[in-house]
Amino acid sequence: MTKKILVLPGDGIGPEIVAEAVKVLEALRQRHGLDVELEHGLVGGAAIDATGGPLPAETLEQAKAADAVLLGAVGGPKWESLDIGIRPEKGLLGLRAGLDLFANLRPAILYPQLAGASSLKAEIVAGLDIMIVRELTGGIYFGQPRGIRTLDNGERQGFNTLVYAEHEIERIVRVACDIARKRGGRVCSVDKANVLECTELWREVATRVVSQDYVDIQLSHMYVDNAAMQLVKWPKQFDVMVTSNMFGDILSDAAAMLTGSIGMLPSASLNAEGRGMYEPIHGSAPDIAGQGVANPLATILSVAMMLRYSLDEPALAERIEQAVNQVLDQGLRTPDILSEGMTQVNCAAMGDAVVAFV
Ligand code: IPM
Ligand code: MG
Repeated sequence: MTKKILVLPGDGIGPEIVAEAVKVLEALRQRHGLDVELEHGLVGGAAIDATGGPLPAETLEQAKAADAVLLGAVGGPKWESLDIGIRPEKGLLGLRAGLDLFANLRPAILYPQLAGASSLKAEIVAGLDIMIVRELTGGIYFGQPRGIRTLDNGERQGFNTLVYAEHEIERIVRVACDIARKRGGRVCSVDKANVLECTELWREVATRVVSQDYVDIQLSHMYVDNAAMQLVKWPKQFDVMVTSNMFGDILSDAAAMLTGSIGMLPSASLNAEGRGMYEPIHGSAPDIAGQGVANPLATILSVAMMLRYSLDEPALAERIEQAVNQVLDQGLRTPDILSEGMTQVNCAAMGDAVVAFV
C-alpha cells in the first residue's frame, strides 16, 4: 500500500536541506520501488507568514493522516519578537504533542571519515555510537502552570513547571531498554535526583521498570551535570542514554558536536504505534539560509530513520547510510565538515552525490 509522507520544510535552511532529502526519496521510488506519496505542508515561520499561526489546523490534520512526517527546521530572527505562544517553535512542539511523539531518538555516531572534524581528540571519539533517547512530550517544556507574572511588589517573575507522571517515565524507559537490547544492552538514565523531586521519581520508576521487565539490561544512573562532563571526557562509556525533555535537548547538542558537526545528526520522534516525525537535530541556521551551503546529510539520514522505523524498509535505510558513507569516502564536504584536502561542495551537490549512490 502506498505510504503517505508529509513534507514540512519550515524555515531558514529547512527548504534547502529538505529538497535534497526529497531527491533521495524520489530516487528510491524510481529505482527501488519505494511506494510513497509525498504531500507538502506549512509549519513554523512559513506557516505564520501564510496563515498567521505556526501550526495551521490543516497541517496537524495532514500529519495525523500521514504514515510519517519529514521536517526541516523552524524559527528565525524574523519571528523572534512574536509572543512566545505563537512563535515558530510552537509549531514543532504542537506537532510533537498533537501526534503524541513521546520518544525522541537521537543517535550520535561518528563517521570515521570525519574524526578530524571533531573538536575532541580522535581517540576519544573514534567509533563513537551513542543513542540518546529523549522524552519529548512532557517535562518542563509542557508543564503547567507556566508564564510570566507580576508580583505584588511590581517585579516580574517567570515560572515553568517540571512534571512527569509515572506512566510517562515508564514508557520512555521501556523504549530505551528495547533499543538497548538491540545494541550494547546498557542504559544510562540521566536525572537530577539530588535536587529535583520530579527526577527522584524518574530514577525510582526507571529502576522499577528495569528490575521488573528488563533484567538483561544493565541500568546506571547519572546526574545531568556529571553526564555532560562525562560526554566530553569519555563519551564511549555510553550505549543508550535516556532522559527528560530538557536534559535531552541539551545533552543531544553536546553529543552531536562530538561527531564533528551537528549537521550530520538525524532524529526520529515516535509515538506508541511507531508513527513518527523525522528531522535533523540542528536548527534553521538563519545565518546561512539561502546560501545553499547547508549540510543536507542530517536530513537525508533522517529519511533513513524514517525508512527503518515507520516504513518498514530497513534495506533502503541501509542503502542511504551506505551512500552517505561513500560520499564521505569520496572526500565531499559541506563547509561545516570541511577539512584539509577535502572537496568543498554545496548543499545541492551533496544531495546529488548521495542520489548517485542510492
Ligand atoms: C530540538 C530543538 C527544539 C527543542 C526547539 C527548536 C523547540 O532545539 O529539537 O532540539 O528545544 O526541542
Ligand atoms: Mg535542541
